[in-house]
Amino acid sequence: MTGPESSPLLGEGAEAQVIETRYLGIPALRKHRIVKAYRPPALDQRLRTERLRMEVRLLREARGLGIRTPFVLDIDLAEGSFVMERVPGRSVTEILEADASDGPENRDLLRRWGEAVGRLHRGNISHGDLTGSNVLWTGQEIVLLDLSMGSHTPELEEFGIDLHLVEEDLNTLSPDAGTLYAAFLEGYATGNPLGAAAIRERALEIKGRVRYS
Ligand SMILES: Nc1ncnc2c1ncn2[C@@H]1O[C@H](COP(=O)(O)OP(=O)(O)O)[C@@H](O)[C@H]1O
Ligand SMILES: [Mg+2]
Repeated sequence: MTGPESSPLLGEGAEAQVIETRYLGIPALRKHRIVKAYRPPALDQRLRTERLRMEVRLLREARGLGIRTPFVLDIDLAEGSFVMERVPGRSVTEILEADASDGPENRDLLRRWGEAVGRLHRGNISHGDLTGSNVLWTGQEIVLLDLSMGSHTPELEEFGIDLHLVEEDLNTLSPDAGTLYAAFLEGYATGNPLGAAAIRERALEIKGRVRYS
C-alpha cells in the first residue's frame, strides 16, 4: 500500500469522512466510517464493519448491472475504511448549482441519472441516499456514489423513498424542479420498465404521507 501523498478533506458528513489520497499512483479517495462515541464500542465496530462491507459489495453489484460506480482498490475492515478510485467529474448538485435551468443539457443529465437508478432498482438494489451530491457526471457517463445506505433486499417502500428523495432534492436545487423530475422519471422508466408504475405510485404515496404527517 502507498501512503497518502496529500490529504485534503473532500467531505465530512455525520457518517463518513472522505480524504483524497493516491493508491499505487492512482488518484484515489479513502472513505472512513466515523466512530460514534455514544455507541458501545463493540456495537459501533460491528455496525461500521457491516455498513462498510455492504457499501463495497453494492458498488460491485451495481457495476454488474451496467452502472458505473467507483472501483474499490483496498479495504481495511479493522480501521473501518476503504480506498476507491477518484472519478473525475462534477456532482449533479454542483452542476445544478451553477445552472439550475431545465434546458436540454440538464434534462438529458436527469434522464441519464434516472436511467441509471432504474437499472439499479431493476437489479433489486435500492440506493438509500439518492441526492444530487451522490451522483457524478463525467461528461460522458453517470457515476453512482455512496451506496452505504443501500440494500440488496429492498421492499417497494425503499424504492419509493429513492424516487421521493430525488424529487425533494430537486426542489431545493432548481425552480424548474418539475420538468427536471419529469426527465428523471422518463429515464427511470427506460431503466426499469416493469417496476416504474408501482414505484412511482409508492413515491407519490410517501410524498402524501410526509406532507400530511
Ligand atoms: N469515487 C469518487 N470520485 C470522486 N468524487 C467522489 C467519489 N466518492 C465520493 N466523492 C465525493 O465526495 C463526497 C462525499 O462522498 P460520499 O461517499 O458521498 O460520503 P458521505 O457518506 O460523506 O456522503 C461526494 O459527494 C462526492 O462529491
Ligand atoms: Mg454522500
